[in-house]
Amino acid sequence: MAANYKDKALKEAKRIVSYIEKDALTTAEKDRIVKDSINNFNKHVNPGWLEYRKSVSTDAAFVEWTDSEEHFEDLHGHQFIDCLGGFGIYTCGHRNPEILKTVKAQLDRYALHSQELVDPLRGYLASLVAMITPGDLQYCFFTNGGAEAVEMSLKLARLATGGRWYISSVGAFHGKSMGAISMGGKGAYREDYLPMIQQVQHVEYGDAKALETAIKNLHIVGEKVAGVILEAVQGEAGVILPPKGYFKEVRKICDKYGVALIVDEIQTGMGRTGYMWRCEYEEIVPDIMTFGKAFGGGVMPITGIIARPKMWVQKLIDNPWILGSPTFGGNPLACAAAISTIRYMLENDIPKECQKKGDYIMKKLRDLKKKYPTVLKDFRGAGLLIAMEFPEAEVGYEVTKGLFKRKVMVAGTLVNAKTVRIEPPAVLTYDTIDYVMKSLDEALAEVKKKFKL
Ligand SMILES: Cc1ncc(COP(=O)(O)O)c(C=O)c1O
Repeated sequence: MAANYKDKALKEAKRIVSYIEKDALTTAEKDRIVKDSINNFNKHVNPGWLEYRKSVSTDAAFVEWTDSEEHFEDLHGHQFIDCLGGFGIYTCGHRNPEILKTVKAQLDRYALHSQELVDPLRGYLASLVAMITPGDLQYCFFTNGGAEAVEMSLKLARLATGGRWYISSVGAFHGKSMGAISMGGKGAYREDYLPMIQQVQHVEYGDAKALETAIKNLHIVGEKVAGVILEAVQGEAGVILPPKGYFKEVRKICDKYGVALIVDEIQTGMGRTGYMWRCEYEEIVPDIMTFGKAFGGGVMPITGIIARPKMWVQKLIDNPWILGSPTFGGNPLACAAAISTIRYMLENDIPKECQKKGDYIMKKLRDLKKKYPTVLKDFRGAGLLIAMEFPEAEVGYEVTKGLFKRKVMVAGTLVNAKTVRIEPPAVLTYDTIDYVMKSLDEALAEVKKKFKL
């Protein structure tokens, strides 16, 4: 901190605010922002960040500045078709005008809550979420990020069952806060932080027998399991779909041993897989369900959990702050966005759009796999949560670069380097999908040649 920091920081803050508030920037200002961004990221965010991003984006100079519907646009007007969808945020598209209208109206009234009076939007949102979720899921707790929602689900499972242990799965991804990463299924993200929550056992995803054995053995030796936590589809592991009937089996096992079943729908929920919730497809009712990502309509960050009444124990009713008390959790702006998102999704049957467009993409991928069997080793998905698998991570990166060159954004997954995901907004038009698939065809041809596959 320099001695004259106040003057310097004020001048700098004024300059940046002027960029944000301006209707149009000059070319010199745009060039300056690009230069500043690279400098600032290298000096004050993480010197590794741009280098890392380059593996997918080839050029660090594309600085995003605006977005709409199916596109991101950089400062110089280059448009990128968004087939990564912010890892699942943009199901309703970018800056969906109807959701934006609701949020702006709320912003003009009041943005954040008093923390003391009753904020009506949180109550309205909770009742709507109870209406659109399976079975007797009833009580909501709103948070700001996915990992935070997972934390709440883990704490609630202990509170409600008295158990201490958790069963998670290999390859799982539930976020990176200390509790959430304890549940994570990849060593690279855990090793440096050990010991974390000690009472976790990881079993193979999709293997109900292994899960039951883990619970049974813990109970035999006098330990008690609080919760089983599973993604409805393992997203970051490369879109791993569980075998048919797996979740029904898991439901039975949890009932048998008095263990809370937590289904993490942060990525799969809100229409993404062709159902409002993947649990509907699996025909089960979890004890606790997490949601996030698309829940805020691609406009506001909001996540949360919903639980069955039996989870909402007297202790929690006697002291509502015992679970958590996040300052910004369920704030009016975020709730307005989520309420508007639910309306938009129901009115436009967004889950069905995801299903139809997902099927269309999968059909095209089938043809491409036939055409390039040595490059595109596999593909799988549900709705608009789709993954392509390549023989090596390097091959996948190269395909990603080839698409980026053609102004199509896709991305890898956090846990499985060989897979690249396609997770676009449901508002993507069929013409755009055709362009994306044509670009993919060209990129695969280039990669085949380059790697002599
Ligand atoms: C299934 C699942 N759970 C939790 C998270 C963590 O969410 P966040 O990044 O908002 O903390 C993610 C993020 O990718 C996710 O896919």
